[in-house]
Amino acid sequence: MSESPEEFHEFVCDLARRAGELQLSRLDNPGDVTEKAPRDIVTDVDILCENLLVEAIEERYPNDSILSEERGGDISPTGRSWVLDPVDGTANFARANPMFCCVVSVMEDGEVTNAAVAAPRIGDLYHARKGGGAFRDSGGRRTRLTVSDTGTIEYSFVGADLSFSTKRNAKYRKPLEEIFERSWQSRALGSAGIRGAWLGAGYLDISIGTRNTPWDYAQTVLLAKEAGGEATDLDGRLWTPDSEGLVATNGHLHEEVIGIVQSGLRD
Ligand code: IPD
Ligand code: CA
Ligand code: CA
Repeated sequence: MSESPEEFHEFVCDLARRAGELQLSRLDNPGDVTEKAPRDIVTDVDILCENLLVEAIEERYPNDSILSEERGGDISPTGRSWVLDPVDGTANFARANPMFCCVVSVMEDGEVTNAAVAAPRIGDLYHARKGGGAFRDSGGRRTRLTVSDTGTIEYSFVGADLSFSTKRNAKYRKPLEEIFERSWQSRALGSAGIRGAWLGAGYLDISIGTRNTPWDYAQTVLLAKEAGGEATDLDGRLWTPDSEGLVATNGHLHEEVIGIVQSGLRD
């Protein structure tokens, strides 16, 4: 008997949940911490989670493509692909800060179809299925997610992870500063996965990411849309795995935020 879309989605959620449980069991023992690039670390737990995810996917869906942060791989332009961030927020995890998660996204024909963000230390699993809504599972309850209804940037909460320590990020200083100055409050969580989920949950009104790492953003595209919001690249165009960055909002603020990003990048 073939698998239903609901059954497939439960497998996606279960995968993220299992990696989250592994993270939690190693919270005080991340193992070796290696600097794979300056100020970019990987722990033994990143690798263990990645192995858990990849082995489970390969066993059940041997023909699917997999792109995973630590071991690489590909997103297939036509068939089904898994996009994995085994531990998102590794710098937090390595110092036992609760803001870390496992992110599992599935793409098919260029579109994100399923997403799961397991944040075990805060007890939440955020997930979305294309056309099926976005939800948070927490304390044994499943609750539907809806983006906020904040109508102006002046009353918005903005999430973005700031690091101007590399030249690459210098060009984002101006647009981000303008958005922060105009907004009510800002949040730098240290986890792109949780940031995207919190946009869907309505805890944030705007989420901005300025890297082109698909495992950090694919889930946000679906969670934002299924919760009633919007997600595009920094130009306001369709997000793709090659996009430089992602802007997700509750929808009401999208055009204005994209306008600020664009004019800030031009100046
Ligand atoms: C990082 C986190 C962080 C973001 C970085 C990501 P990692 O992911 O999501 O919030 O600012 O851009 O690389 O390396 O912990 O998986
Ligand atoms: Ca990440
Ligand atoms: Ca990671």
